Amino acid sequence: MAKLKITETILRDAHQSLIATRMTLDEMLPILSAIDEVGFHSAEAWGGATFDSCLRFLDEDPWERLRIIKKHMPKTPIQMLFRGQNMLGYRHYADDVVEYFVQKSIANGVDILRIFDALNDTRNMRTAINACKKEGGHLQAVICYTISPAHSNEKFIELGKELEESGADSICIKDMAGLITPYAAYDLVKGLKEQVKIPIQLHTHYTSGMASMACLKAIEAGVDIIDTAMSPLALGSSHPATESMVAALQGTEHDTGLDLNKLNVVREHFAKLREKYLANGLLNPKLLGVDANTLLYQVPGGMLSNLVSQLKQAGKEDQLDAVLQEVPRVRADAGYPPLVTPSSQIVGTQAVFNVITGERYKMVTKEFKGLVRGEYGKTAVPIDPEFRKSIIGDEEPIDCRPADLLQPELDKLRTEAGQWAEQEEDVLSYAQFGQVAVKFFENRRNKKYGIDSEHVDMQNKVHPV
Ligand code: CO
Repeated sequence: MAKLKITETILRDAHQSLIATRMTLDEMLPILSAIDEVGFHSAEAWGGATFDSCLRFLDEDPWERLRIIKKHMPKTPIQMLFRGQNMLGYRHYADDVVEYFVQKSIANGVDILRIFDALNDTRNMRTAINACKKEGGHLQAVICYTISPAHSNEKFIELGKELEESGADSICIKDMAGLITPYAAYDLVKGLKEQVKIPIQLHTHYTSGMASMACLKAIEAGVDIIDTAMSPLALGSSHPATESMVAALQGTEHDTGLDLNKLNVVREHFAKLREKYLANGLLNPKLLGVDANTLLYQVPGGMLSNLVSQLKQAGKEDQLDAVLQEVPRVRADAGYPPLVTPSSQIVGTQAVFNVITGERYKMVTKEFKGLVRGEYGKTAVPIDPEFRKSIIGDEEPIDCRPADLLQPELDKLRTEAGQWAEQEEDVLSYAQFGQVAVKFFENRRNKKYGIDSEHVDMQNKVHPV
């Protein structure tokens, strides 16, 4: 048996899961070279919500962050999470934009692209996959793990075979909600190892309290790589603790070979940050416990807190149980999408509407209509035509690859973003985050010319474009 490899997530998913992606580059910088010394298989450091958070909340250029992390961590492959045709945004982009985004991600320092589609529709991953191969990146293709009558290990293994044939260098089982049980993990990994040749990685969250057991059983079944987080930002809605997994495997055939003393240097840095996040309220201790609702309702932790806040806004907090029972019904109507961005938000919001209006589908969101129409791709099982008609009326359903309906848009975006662009990559920030990016560009320009940005903001309440 080969040694188990570890992907460290503290620079991306761990802080996305526990402190709403608010870790700044300044907080990371002093410890990057020590992380680089550990010998991780990779460090997940970019993509997911980090890009959005940099522009929206932290006044940081996400591209600059990537370049600096890469410079300080020359030995460790940098990994990013990439939402297929959505890139890091919330809609489908034309192929020319996706290709350019992959090219620039790799040029700026990403080594491994973990590419997924919320519906496991591989057509939505194809352009990113081809671009990644062309640019010489390591292509990790994702199986979004979920539990439903339309999903089974057999189907996930079929998907794994399809991903290997499409050129994937490795496969990630992405269990974003922490649903995978230890024995399901064992069977799935074992089945995949029998059917595909490329390495298998397990990404699971601690939300339901099962993650380290699932990792251990996956390791026994031959998984090649697991995702963990340094202990100060591990457990809860994050991942198993890196140090614990390393210690658990020491002296066995799966020994990671990582040095607990080197890890301790890294731990000390993040332990201080953890204290700071607890003191300033960024880290909510509630997120650190076991969320047993996940086991009952298969709802990811982040989705549950969204449902609670939507109900609060409507003054209907007492309806949470009704909404949690409605979620699986909406999901069944919509062809059993895995609950991950953006399908988790779409299904969750529709379930809330169905409950608080007192009548199912009396109010239908634009996004739910889009999902039922096929705008996001193919669902695990076909949607009942009668139900679809009741939601979209006479609109034409979409059954092609959704991005085939999009015209190239990079030139238009370049024209729109031209007045702010200071680097080629800016057009991609603008493509994904529009006005949020414009606000960032304006602040950047104002800082450069020594203008008080708050003052300027007051004068320019309405931004161009
Ligand atoms: Co995750």
